[in-house]
Amino acid sequence: MADPLLDAAWKAREHAWCPYSGFAVGAALESDDGRWYAGCNVENASYGLTVCAERAAVSAAIAAGARRFRRLVVVADCDPPVSPCGGCRQVLAEFGEELLVESASRTARRSWQLRDLLPDAFKPSRRAHD
Ligand code: THU
Repeated sequence: MADPLLDAAWKAREHAWCPYSGFAVGAALESDDGRWYAGCNVENASYGLTVCAERAAVSAAIAAGARRFRRLVVVADCDPPVSPCGGCRQVLAEFGEELLVESASRTARRSWQLRDLLPDAFKPSRRAHD
């Protein structure tokens, strides 16, 4: 079945900057009003500065004014399809734990609810602005 969000994630993956790992990842996030924001992993010679595709998609979405999300799709050429790293789970949880996370390779797909990937996520007791 056609899935434009999945297509957007594969398209973003084409732009991955991953000369150190050789592992290209794409991600696309759908906001609650149906808009899409894509990202890819961006590695750095100082390896620890690498930004994952999921976090790049979150940054693109936030910079465009989106705040609430329905669905994230992440894609890479590996089986089983990648499971988002712990840091990305926490970054995604900042904007709500009611998120469907889907991961796809060329041949397989799997999905989770974010709250199951990161149970009991850290939340500050208050936020100055929402
Ligand atoms: N990576 C992502 O972009 N997302 C994931 O879910 C897993 C890992 C990237 C980080 C790094 O550039 C490369 O994949 C290898 O870890």
